[in-house]
Amino acid sequence: MKSSLSSTVAGLLIFLAGAATACTGFAGQHDHFLPVNGTLAMENQIPLNDAGYGVSHFGHGAYMVTDGAYQTLVLVSTAGVVVVDAPPTTGHKLQWAIGNLTSIPVRWFVYSHSHSDHAGGAYLFADNQAHPKVKTIAHENTAAQLVAARDPHRPVPHITFKDRYTLKAGNQTLDLFFPGIGHDLGNIIIYAPKQRILMMVDQIYAGWVPFWNLAASVYVPGWIDAHDRILAYDFDVYLGGHMGGPANRTAVTVQREYVRDLYANCADALNNVDIVPIGTEVLTNNPYNIWAQFAVYLDAVAEVCYNATSAKWLGKLAAQDIFGFSHARTMVSSLRLDYDVLGPNGVQP
Ligand SMILES: *[C@@H]1O[C@H](CO)[C@@H](O)[C@H](O)[C@H]1NC(C)=O
Ligand SMILES: *[C@@H]1O[C@H](CO)[C@@H](O)[C@H](O)[C@H]1NC(C)=O
Ligand SMILES: *[C@@H]1O[C@H](CO)[C@@H](O)[C@H](O)[C@H]1NC(C)=O
Ligand SMILES: *[C@@H]1O[C@H](CO)[C@@H](O)[C@H](O)[C@H]1NC(C)=O
Ligand SMILES: *[C@@H]1O[C@H](CO)[C@@H](O)[C@H](O)[C@H]1NC(C)=O
Ligand SMILES: [Zn+2]
Repeated sequence: MKSSLSSTVAGLLIFLAGAATACTGFAGQHDHFLPVNGTLAMENQIPLNDAGYGVSHFGHGAYMVTDGAYQTLVLVSTAGVVVVDAPPTTGHKLQWAIGNLTSIPVRWFVYSHSHSDHAGGAYLFADNQAHPKVKTIAHENTAAQLVAARDPHRPVPHITFKDRYTLKAGNQTLDLFFPGIGHDLGNIIIYAPKQRILMMVDQIYAGWVPFWNLAASVYVPGWIDAHDRILAYDFDVYLGGHMGGPANRTAVTVQREYVRDLYANCADALNNVDIVPIGTEVLTNNPYNIWAQFAVYLDAVAEVCYNATSAKWLGKLAAQDIFGFSHARTMVSSLRLDYDVLGPNGVQP
């Protein structure tokens, strides 16, 4: 689909103006978004108690604790409790939840990855680095990030690993596996084989499109590949660290389909949006400003990709209207830089 100069520029202007309808979406430019009711997001909500947290029990001493926006995995073993992640927003509610589940003390703390929004409450469990009652565990890349961060809220882990680590905690087993750089430098798959629970944080957002810019991933191809790495495991319960209740394999296959569509639509847009009329117009109005030309062109590509993706997913996965454009932009960038889909900027004849 070759866009003509006038229709592309006009379309872009309407789009950037943040039309009052919900069909375009820049959070901040308007305050009316598509309803979450009716989307897949409503399927896995769990109620919160008066103290502001909710608990799901999966059997055999495995629990999820949530504050409605974040998730933590708790495993009660005969030798102590294992906690995976401590979001600062959950804060002391996580300690209350555990205290109400068992009188067995916490003995292990696992970092899913380095990010503060999931790990900024780690200090509540691992407060004595010199004589730890609680052993902290992370991937070696996460450890390097935490050393560099020097953040008292996220203490440097005692135990690190490169490829995999099996935590034997009394009668419980937790397998930790590093599938490669993706969302973060050291984001791991956390697998409880007895309970058939798989946790990989900031990877799958059940019922929602991912958090902006494809989950703010440091390496988009790794984040995309992780969908398949997850599905290679035998599991019934999936925990993504976000959005209330527990999910299952369907959430993973649904998001994989969304990402595949986005990839195909953005590749089509890169191969079909004509840079010449856009570039000519921008350079005429802004002499020598090749970055202005390129920025307008790339946003035009992202807009075509966003619209095509929205045609299928708007109102199905929640927040496509909010983060969908950022996903199109990020995918366009990754296609160009990681996948060698360069459109008009490929090898010249
Ligand atoms: C994208 O969709 C919006 C609204 O639905 C429309 O105004 C705009 O022209 C479309 N852009 C392109 C490039 O088709
Ligand atoms: C959304 O759904 C919930 C529960 O499914 C219901 O209680 C609520 O009234 C609905 N809200 C709107 C605005 O439709
Ligand atoms: C998986 O979760 C979805 C909703 O989140 C639900 O509709 C479906 O029944 C679940 N599948 C299984 C096998 O539990
Ligand atoms: C392990 O022991 C804990 C504490 O006694 C118990 O709650 C849990 O169900 C046990 N889990 C397994 C897998 O045996
Ligand atoms: C149990 O939870 C409540 C809040 O729901 C909290 O006030 C209380 O301190 C918790 N009990 C323990 C032993 O942590
Ligand atoms: Zn993260």
